[in-house]
Amino acid sequence: MYICLCNALTDHDVKRAAAGGARRPREVYDSCNTRVQCGSCTGMILCALRTLIMERADEAVAAMPTAAT
Ligand code: FES
Repeated sequence: MYICLCNALTDHDVKRAAAGGARRPREVYDSCNTRVQCGSCTGMILCALRTLIMERADEAVAAMPTAAT
């Protein structure tokens, strides 16, 4: 799905950028060798980044060993 029409960035591009360490929309643009143009996508990119970060945190918590009681 396209997230940034000006730069033809998709949700896969955002996911790839997040896997590479991007935490802000600017870092997503940088990792895709693009720049913000109209700016109407920054909120959606930020939302996608936050969702991906939360999913990764949930996976890390689920993978943690449980304490023996
Ligand atoms: S839609 Fe992303 S900069 Fe315009």
